Amino acid sequence: MVGLASSVATARLLLRVPELADAEAFTGIFWDPEVVDKKQVTLREPPGGLDLALKNTRDMLSQWELRGYGHWSVIEKATGHVIGCVGFYHPQREWPGVDLGWVLHRSRCGHGFATEAATAALGWAWEYTPVDRIISLIAPHDRRSIRIATKIGERFERDDVDPVHGEPVQIYGIERPKVLAF
Ligand SMILES: CC(C)(COP(=O)(O)OP(=O)(O)OC[C@H]1O[C@@H](n2cnc3c(N)ncnc32)[C@H](O)[C@@H]1OP(=O)(O)O)[C@@H](O)C(=O)NCCC(=O)NCCS
Repeated sequence: MVGLASSVATARLLLRVPELADAEAFTGIFWDPEVVDKKQVTLREPPGGLDLALKNTRDMLSQWELRGYGHWSVIEKATGHVIGCVGFYHPQREWPGVDLGWVLHRSRCGHGFATEAATAALGWAWEYTPVDRIISLIAPHDRRSIRIATKIGERFERDDVDPVHGEPVQIYGIERPKVLAF
């Protein structure tokens, strides 16, 4: 169920549940050659056009419906543009946990937006879901994402293999912060 608490605002960004109208912006984000070459795990598909972006958007919406969390469209407040996609993914039982991932339009990289969005996503998960552990599956060569993972408090856990594509990944993770009882 997608509830009222499913949007998150930060200083520069709005994270909201994707709409089908976002699919056009996603074609410029997901099918960027760098994103495709990176073999990044969660959104990997052969590059495609609007139909495939619409399918991805519907898949994102179904995560929200099935699990109560999913990927958000990331809106840059200053422009109102959809500049990326950040959020949670847990497609099947053999996936090693609730996976926080991020992707931004190339033109918006390097401004700290991914870290800002991922930090907000993590805070939202602790507040609005019962999940006690969040992980990120990251390609070992993806130094930027490893930097983001460590900045938001995730720690390296182990080398592993992506259970769907069989590619090597590093798993970073973080536990729900303990609430101190007085
Ligand atoms: C990964 C991605 C989301 C990063 O977005 P971004 O807005 O540039 O990220 P941020 O600016 O918040 O942070 C990037 C950090 O990595 C650092 N960084 C950049 N290049 C780096 C490199 N080659 N090695 C190590 N650190 C690097 C930056 O300095 C920054 O850290 P800092 O704030 O301490 O200086 C973006 O590049 C992207 O969409 N890539 C393609 C999709 C992808 O691979 N997603 C990952 C799936 S897990």
